[in-house]
Amino acid sequence: MDVDIGNALASVASPGVSRDSLERLDEQVADAHERIEDGMANGEHGYEALNLPDRTDPDEIRRAVEPVADAEALVTVGIGGSALGAATITEALDSDTKTVYLDNVDPAWVTAELERLPLENTAINVVSRSGTTAETLANFLVVREAFEDAGVDWTERTIVTTGESGPLRDLSERHDLPSLKVPDGVPGRFSALSAVGMVAAAVCGHDLEALLEGATAEADTLSGSLFDCPAYAYGATSYALDARGAGMNAMVPYAESLETYSEWFAQLWAESLGKDDLGQTPLRALGVTDQHSQLQLYRAGPRDKVVTFVTPREADDRAIPDTEVDDLAYLGDATLGELLDAEFEATEASLAAAGRPNVRIELERVDEYELGGLLYGMEAACVLAGELYGVNTFEQPAVEWAKKATRGLLGGGEFEEADAVAEKTELR
Ligand code: PA5
Repeated sequence: MDVDIGNALASVASPGVSRDSLERLDEQVADAHERIEDGMANGEHGYEALNLPDRTDPDEIRRAVEPVADAEALVTVGIGGSALGAATITEALDSDTKTVYLDNVDPAWVTAELERLPLENTAINVVSRSGTTAETLANFLVVREAFEDAGVDWTERTIVTTGESGPLRDLSERHDLPSLKVPDGVPGRFSALSAVGMVAAAVCGHDLEALLEGATAEADTLSGSLFDCPAYAYGATSYALDARGAGMNAMVPYAESLETYSEWFAQLWAESLGKDDLGQTPLRALGVTDQHSQLQLYRAGPRDKVVTFVTPREADDRAIPDTEVDDLAYLGDATLGELLDAEFEATEASLAAAGRPNVRIELERVDEYELGGLLYGMEAACVLAGELYGVNTFEQPAVEWAKKATRGLLGGGEFEEADAVAEKTELR
């Protein structure tokens, strides 16, 4: 990926960051890079995720999905980091395999999603690092029951990805299901390039090697200076802008296929950096759709945002047909792709003209290689930003608090978090 921070500089944007400040920040980037390199070399929790391009074995993943390689549809049951990486990859790329992601436990929605699936030819991909997440386990039990009701043997069609032990591991061993292990030291939201994100990609027939090669190419750019490393340029600029008042980061891909990527980014940024009263709030948007809604705020609202564009240089195109109306002749001379590009250029220029900081991330195209680079690059950007904020990027105590409270409230164990919820409810 290429990162252009020109429209985030103080000479053109407010808030903006001056070249001098970035040069001073680069000394901290060099120190942070040393810590990141040490963490990677020692396989420390979290930093280990940046080693995944070297550690993930595509053959092992393909072997595990072999029994369901011909599935017409794939239902992935997982939530947060156990779903969004896989969804980002499979939603971005074309495949004949229909994919459904069951993360929410809204009963009407779960039922409707299951009804849309050809269960007799659907594979099940259950993913939970801890193996204890109530939403995932509950949805898996519901999916299992739906298969049984339809007379389909779910044990023949299920692949499990989980940690070494836990209830989901027990379940998979009890039924002798093909299973993969979530690698040690890799938090959920940093696991897209492991089996967690790649089982779905394998069932959909995507090129796993290319995903990892793209990530490796990005890993090769990690260096002690933000001026030599696109990922660090992004992480450091976002951090510096936040310190100057841009407390929100709107992620705006100009490709429908990357809509889920914004969701993935939002989780990565929020759950990793939102600690100790610090962190930049991610916003999700899509070009061109949100030009007709959120853009007004981004250009003329409070000066508290940076807008990040992601744009592929090449994409399939389609001509706009000629029309009998003279005023529309300009459209007939163009293609939808040219219109999309013009909308992007206009939006970027309009924000720049209004002095609103924005950053452009360019991909060659949306394919496995470029996606691997984008996912890895943004993870590295996030790790770097976490070092600069001085937060623990790889923990998520607030998320864990709510998970324990939920289990406790349902009688799934003794948790003080559940007692705290019960006390609050009594006070109402
Ligand atoms: O990034 C994270 O740690 C979380 O978003 C988890 O991925 C999410 O809570 C699901 O957890 P698990 O994989 O244990 O089911």
